[in-house]
Formats: sequence, C-alpha cells, structure tokens
Amino acid sequence: MASFDDLVKRRGEIAAGRAPNRATLVLGDGTCGRASGSSEVRAALSEAISSLDTEKRLAFRTTGCHGFCQIEPNVQVLPDETLYVHVKPENAQSIVEAALSGKVLKNLTYKDGQKKSCAKITDVPFYKRQMRLLSGLNVYVDPLRIEDYIAIDGYQALAKALFTMTPDFVVEEVIKANLRGRGGGGFPAGWKWDSVRKAEGEPKYVVCNADEGDPGAYMDRSLLEGNPHLVIEGMLIGAFAIGSHEGYVYVRNEYPLAVQNLIVALDQAREHGLLGKNILGSGFDFDIRINRGGGAFVCGESSALMQSIEGRPGEPIPKYVHMSERGLYNKPTNLNNVETWANVPFIVNRGADWYRTIGTEGSKGTKIFSLVGNINNTGQVEVPMGISLREIVEGIGGGIPNRRKFKAVQTGGPSGGCLPADCLDVPVDFDQLTKLGSMMGSGGMIVMDEDSCMVDVARYFTNFLVEESCGKCVPCREGVMQLRDILNDITQGRGREGDVELMEDLSKVVIDCSLCALGQSAPNPLLTTIRYFRDEYVAHIHDKKCPARRCTALISFRIDAENCTGCALCKKQCPTVAIAGEKKKTHVIDPEKCIRCGACFEVCKFDAVIKE
Ligand SMILES: Cc1cc2nc3c(=O)[nH]c(=O)nc-3n(C[C@H](O)[C@H](O)[C@H](O)COP(=O)(O)O)c2cc1C
Ligand code: SF4
Ligand code: SF4
Repeated sequence: MASFDDLVKRRGEIAAGRAPNRATLVLGDGTCGRASGSSEVRAALSEAISSLDTEKRLAFRTTGCHGFCQIEPNVQVLPDETLYVHVKPENAQSIVEAALSGKVLKNLTYKDGQKKSCAKITDVPFYKRQMRLLSGLNVYVDPLRIEDYIAIDGYQALAKALFTMTPDFVVEEVIKANLRGRGGGGFPAGWKWDSVRKAEGEPKYVVCNADEGDPGAYMDRSLLEGNPHLVIEGMLIGAFAIGSHEGYVYVRNEYPLAVQNLIVALDQAREHGLLGKNILGSGFDFDIRINRGGGAFVCGESSALMQSIEGRPGEPIPKYVHMSERGLYNKPTNLNNVETWANVPFIVNRGADWYRTIGTEGSKGTKIFSLVGNINNTGQVEVPMGISLREIVEGIGGGIPNRRKFKAVQTGGPSGGCLPADCLDVPVDFDQLTKLGSMMGSGGMIVMDEDSCMVDVARYFTNFLVEESCGKCVPCREGVMQLRDILNDITQGRGREGDVELMEDLSKVVIDCSLCALGQSAPNPLLTTIRYFRDEYVAHIHDKKCPARRCTALISFRIDAENCTGCALCKKQCPTVAIAGEKKKTHVIDPEKCIRCGACFEVCKFDAVIKE
C-alpha cells in the first residue's frame, strides 16, 4: 500500500470479500488455549467445516487468548457472541451444525455460580464488568492475518497521524490523554516522548519492553501473541512523533508463540508498506527488530534491557543521564511497555478527550491485570482505572473458592505489596495503590485466602528477588538476602524479639541505597505485610505459632479422642508410621516421628485430626 487511499481501499476489499451475515467460529488458540488442548479442537473444527462443505456459510478464525483461562479451550460464535467452554474435539461437529442453524448448545455454555447457563459472552459475570478496550480486539484478529487487523480499522490511527497530524500534535495528544506507562512506574508516556523528541543525537530509538518476568503475569504475552499489529501500530505512531526510524521489541525468549506471531506480523506489515521505507507514501521510514530477552527478571529494568540489546550482560547501570538523552548505544531512546504502546492507536483514533473520560483523575484509560491465586475465575482482566479491588476480586473473579475467606491481594508483581480486606473498596489506580504501600506494577494480581501465611508470603517474594538480584550493588545483593534469611528464621520458629524492627531498618537502607528499582522496591512485600499483618509476625516470633497453620515448623498434629472412630485411614496414609492405634479404637500421633506432612489431616473424614 503506497498511500492513505490504498489503506482505505484495501479495507473495503477485505470487507467486500466477507459475507456480512456469515457466522464465524472463533477459537482461542494462544499459549494458554494450546496448553488446554485448543490445537486438537482446531483440527476437529477444521475437519467438521470442510466435511460439511460449509466454508461459504461459516468462517473459522483462530485467535489469541480471550482472557478467561479457566474455560479454555473456548469457542465463540459471531455475530451472536455465543460462548462455548471447555470444548473438546468431539464437540466440533455439533458446534458447526448449531452455528449453521442458529441454535445454541446449552450443555457447552458457561454456568454461573447459581448454575444458570450464560449463552452469550456478555452474560458471563467474568466478562460483564470488564472494559476490554485493548484485549477485546483479540477475538476479531487472527494474529497471522494482517487483513483481520485492517478490517477492524487497524493502521487507521497511523494513517491519521502521518497525514493529518504533526509529530508535535501527536505528542501533545498523548500528554493530554495522560497515558501513564503500564510497565511499572506509571511515568507519563507523553512527557517521555517529548524529552526524547527534544533530545539531541541521531538516530533515536523506540523500544518495546515485552520482557514480563513477574511470576503469574501474562498481560503482555497475551497482547503480543493475540494482536501484534496493535503494538506495532502504537510503536509506529510513537516513532513518528519522536522522530525515530529504528525500533526494537525486547521480548521474553520464553514466549515462543509471541515471537513467532510478531515475526509474521512484522513481515506482513513490511509487505503492506506499513513498515520500512516511505510508509504509506508519507516519506516516513521506520522498521522494527526483535531482540529476545536474556532470561532474567532484571533484564526488564530499562538500563539492563538496553545493555542486553547491545549484547552485554543484562545488568542495570547507574543513570547519571536520562535514557531519553542517552539510552541504547548512547542515543536518545524511548522505552515503553507493550500495553502502553497498545493504548496509543486508541488515543490517536478517538482523541485524548475521549480517552480522558475513562479512569480516575490521575490515571486514565484501562488496565489489564493477571488475576490469579485463590480465586474462582482466574484470567486476564481489563478494567477501567478506578474500579475497586472488591469489584475485581468478587465481581469479576467470583470470590474465593471452597468457602474460604479473602485474606489479601498482592498487586504489582514480586516487589509489590499485599493489601488486606480493609483495602478492598479502594479505587485501583497508580496513586492509590502507591499510597497503600503497594503499586500497580505491570499488573500481576495474586489473591490469597485465609490459609495463606503472610510471613511466608513475604519470605516467598523476598526469596524470588534474592534469586533475581543481579548482585552488582551491595545493598540489594546483601541486604535483600539478609531480609530473606531473617524471614526464613521466623517461619522456621527461630524468630527473635526485635526482628521486625531490624527488618524495617534494613529495608530503609536497601530502598535508599540500591542502584536500581529491583533493590529499591524489594522490601515492599515485607513492609506491607508488617504494616497490615503485624500480629502474624508477633505470633510467629513471640508465641512460636503460625496463625494460618502454614509454617510447618510451627504447627503440630494430634488426634482428638472424642471424634476418632478408629477407622485407621490416617494410619494408612502416614509416611513415617507416626500413628498408632487398633481398629475401632482411638489413634495417637507420635510427635517425635511426625514430619507434619498433613496427610492424616487431609484424609480424616471425622475432623478428628487437629492441626494447631
Ligand atoms: C527489576 C525490574 C523489572 C522490570 N521488568 C519490566 C518488564 O518486564 N516490562 C516492562 O514493561 N517494564 C519492566 N520494568 C520497568 C521498566 O524499567 C520501565 O520502567 C518500563 O518498561 C517503561 O515503560 P512504561 O513507561 O511504558 O511503563 C522493570 C523494572 C524493574 C526495576
Ligand atoms: S539493585 Fe539489585 S538488581 Fe539492581 S543493580 Fe543493584 S544488585 Fe543489581
Ligand atoms: S502429619 Fe504426616 S507424618 Fe504426621 S502423623 Fe500425620 S500423616 Fe503422619
């Protein structure tokens, strides 16, 4: 395509080639779908469609993730928006027949908490309360077909920027929209673009951070895998605004499907005159290369990432000068997260004023979260900023399974914080989460139930950060390790009076003196658990008890004589032969032999095994 008109014409041709009322089957076929068997469903659906000779009446599209992990593999029927869940290959034929006759297969639809069938995707509580501005497009796009993206007005924003806006105007619009970086810090993207635009030096680089090393987070993977053109278009617009001609996507090597889909998307964009020289005949040149990540969490940190692209070990370096002035190869560089870039086409297409209508005063637009942990509906959730944590956990997530109580939600990835039930009604945005001692981070959200021990949770995240610290600076390398060791001691019953205060003091040093944000934010999980769950630290250290009965060294098992029927089930399960007793008589646990594995507790049907 060599002009704006060519893009419009191409869109028209694609639309003309599609029968408007033709039903379309859409299979979620991202990494998560494939892990649940979508490849087999894909083969079965293809066969069912070809055997029925229905291709003209029924279209079939494989796409990226639809967000609701627990219902994979799933199939949507458009335009009706019927949703089939946990689809098996043997369901393929009936799904095809139902789609052709306009019927709904009730047995394959989602059932809500009251076992009511939700036929349409919009009826499903998980989707009902979301605003899937970015991620909702996945359904319409086969990531391997640029035509699908063009059909939904893809590259329209790029053309609008190239032919109707000046670079300054684009930057102003992004500033006005108050788009804040979705990769962690929430820095306003427009201001960053502005300083790179004004910085001296050529070439200027545009980089997309798709490293996503946070445990349990997969927002960026899902966007890049499902709709790579949206990210490419955002980068193109940014490059035009900044005056850059070279871009990089730094993507996790552990995301093979995202890399594969991105390679195809870049090639197709080049073939269509949307990347490379003289884009759409505008005179603007820009191309993107892929750089596969070095495999460490710290490689996502901006300076480490640039070192890694340059072929050096991915370790942070001191930032005496801003990256916007001297970044990659010492040239002005603009680094933004995948989701940040994906927001840009919406701002250009619909305008900053429209964008500002979504969200809170300080945080505009939507945010994608990976909702995982002790929650009924796990998945990728996109909501307008300002929604309450309760709405996410209870409304969208469907609450806590097994009638357990909510205890905490960890937001912001490994260096975020744990927030208790008291914080559930707080509106979620960058500033509110920071005020509470946590952070938005990239969007990981881990829900914990009453059986979670908050000291152990702090130990887990601190340990993760010890292992991921690059070791370059002493406060982080030694300090975080000391914090982890004290937490280890506490959870193993060796906690000493004064440990909490010692950890608080040490945390201040680590925060103030570490070179990069990994160390500077590493004490967050620990500090928030002390702030909101101090009594659990006291119980561990002072009473040598774990209130959640999680820390093995601090719990014991005994058998209650009144409840024990002498069924001997526990005896059979015990791996250390710690349980003695004759059939139909009370059983007893020998504490010396007991390794506190909990097998007897799990297996007893009479609540006779007591964990304390
Ligand atoms: C240890 C560490 C890991 C990080 N990992 C990522 C990451 O995986 N993806 C990301 O976008 N930002 C990550 N960041 C934040 C980046 O350094 C940077 O702030 C961000 O990519 C800027 O983009 P944004 O302004 O669009 O958020 C990380 C920061 C630190 C300190
Ligand atoms: S703070 Fe930690 S991760 Fe960052 S440079 Fe220092 S040692 Fe490396
Ligand atoms: S906790 Fe494990 S080791 Fe101890 S008595 Fe029960 S089954 Fe045996």
